[in-house]
Amino acid sequence: MSYKLRVEALQAWYGQHQVLKGISMPIRANTITAVIGPSGCGKSTFIRCLNRMHEVVPGTRVAGRVWLDGRNIYNGINAVEVRRRVGMVFQTPNIFPAMSIFQNVVAGLYLNGIRGRRQLQERAENCLQQAGLWEEVRDRLHDTAAGLSSGQLQRLCIARALAVEPEILLMDEPCSALDPIASIRIEELMRELKASYTIILVTHNMQQAARVSDYTAYLCDGELVEYESTPEVFIRPKDSRTENYITGRGADTRPL
Ligand SMILES: Nc1ncnc2c1ncn2[C@@H]1O[C@H](COP(=O)(O)OP(=O)(O)OP(=O)(O)O)[C@@H](O)[C@H]1O
Ligand SMILES: [Mg+2]
Repeated sequence: MSYKLRVEALQAWYGQHQVLKGISMPIRANTITAVIGPSGCGKSTFIRCLNRMHEVVPGTRVAGRVWLDGRNIYNGINAVEVRRRVGMVFQTPNIFPAMSIFQNVVAGLYLNGIRGRRQLQERAENCLQQAGLWEEVRDRLHDTAAGLSSGQLQRLCIARALAVEPEILLMDEPCSALDPIASIRIEELMRELKASYTIILVTHNMQQAARVSDYTAYLCDGELVEYESTPEVFIRPKDSRTENYITGRGADTRPL
């Protein structure tokens, strides 16, 4: 198995505030890596550094290297190419509500200059199939996306992310606004998608991390405390901070 991404000594700042303090981790192709850790520890910042979205915020800075198939995304690949190859799905489905389901899926392709009706239609169907949404929307492709349920909207965002043919999918708490059934549906989908993509998933849901991921990274205060195969992290955590977090004891160690 080869490494798709290799993160090396990654540091990130918002102004003077250093949020990531030197993270190194290799990520294998066609795996799901869960990134867990307390709120504010830097999970979203970390994955946003993997597709050069962090630098979009004014006053931010990044140091270190992120090798994508052996090429450093911060030196020699332009940000537009990086973001096409490394797609992102957010916590809240960020659709264009006035646009149709079809237009939402192909928005990225359209922006990239692809205008052939037939090509757009084929790609839309294919991506909606991959996102497990096709059967539910095939008869209403030209209705506005605002009429979909939140679980369907999140699958629509996944279809849209897939439309530009990325290699890596970053998912930042994609199920936190969904009910358990819709969440399980997304988890099943992630398992199917990993045959073709490398997935990095931020989640606060420990059961979800344990169910769906191959590897788990525990981040605390901008540092990578533990990074192992998921069963190792959940069954035999090496660091007491990881153990406290996954067992729900959190960082609160005050005596009763
Ligand atoms: N746009 C911003 N400007 C300034 N500081 C920020 C910004 N975004 C995040 N931060 C700070 O960076 C730190 C890490 O934030 P980040 O969003 O990466 O954490 P997180 O682990 O994703 O948290 P959560 O689990 O709550 O989503 C926090 O201290 C946060 O306040
Ligand atoms: Mg976050």
